[in-house]
Amino acid sequence: MKHLLATRDLRRDDAIMLLDTAEDMADVSDREVKKLPVLRGITVVNLFYEDSTRTRISFEAAEKRLSADVINFAAKGSSVSKGESLKDTAQTLRAIGADAVVIRHPSSGAPQLLAERDWIDTPILNAGDGMHEHPTQALLDAFTLRHRLHGRDGARGTGLDGAHVVIVGDILHSRVARSNVWLLSTLGARVTLVGPPTLLPADTSMWPARTTYDLDEALADDPTAVMLLRIQAERMRDAFFPNTREYATFWGLSEARFHALGSEVAIMHPGPMNRGLEISSAAADSSQSTVLEQVANGVAVRMSALYHLLSGSQEGAA
Ligand code: CP
Repeated sequence: MKHLLATRDLRRDDAIMLLDTAEDMADVSDREVKKLPVLRGITVVNLFYEDSTRTRISFEAAEKRLSADVINFAAKGSSVSKGESLKDTAQTLRAIGADAVVIRHPSSGAPQLLAERDWIDTPILNAGDGMHEHPTQALLDAFTLRHRLHGRDGARGTGLDGAHVVIVGDILHSRVARSNVWLLSTLGARVTLVGPPTLLPADTSMWPARTTYDLDEALADDPTAVMLLRIQAERMRDAFFPNTREYATFWGLSEARFHALGSEVAIMHPGPMNRGLEISSAAADSSQSTVLEQVANGVAVRMSALYHLLSGSQEGAA
């Protein structure tokens, strides 16, 4: 693996290898070994053209735990506002010493562009591109689900065979949904996508998932996990958004819907959450909620991805 751009082309054995290494990374953190020296001398740039809390900070934590030098770049306040292109920005960062670039960008395909053109020669890690993919989010979701299915001690080497994951919300604009559909199905899970007709893609015939508008029907189909997604107001262009009361009534995991679920069903959300809209506080704050576990697991999963892409390049580091 040279880059981590998408889960669509990730093979099952590579996905399981990334998750298994993340188990090792989580064990290291739990033993209170705060740092591993594996990326000493490597500089990682976090190049964020869009806002982020979880992804940016957990990538930074992961890089520091692997002893990398970290440069954080936010487009806001940079020369991007003067019109500097992605190519010139990336080449500038490479000239300053970047050995890898973690990029979040509002345009779908920006990380692929960086990886496929000959602009820079470093590993590229996609931290979320437009409506396209968010591969490390899907990996941390799969990591969390594996623990639910097999327990932490029994998770190594396993996929998600037999699981049923119901993903609810603004599927149309969601890179988290896309990355999860591909990865969950590669790992053997069954996926059901639920949302209002205007927030489901017009054609999902190529996706390994079933779609329905009826949340209650999907919740009655024995889910292992229900993953709620945020309404992405910033990406709404022509999409018609039902009013918030209507959305919460038909597609929100209300307190009543949550209590009707089995007590083993995991309640997942990538964050940030809109409480009272797609998820009730009763569900978000329950013992079934994996929301904070997902955030914590993000550090180990990102350590794993960085390790696999970069540990070989340490020999050339100063
Ligand atoms: N889940 C996620 O990508 O959150 P942030 O936008 O806060 O990084």
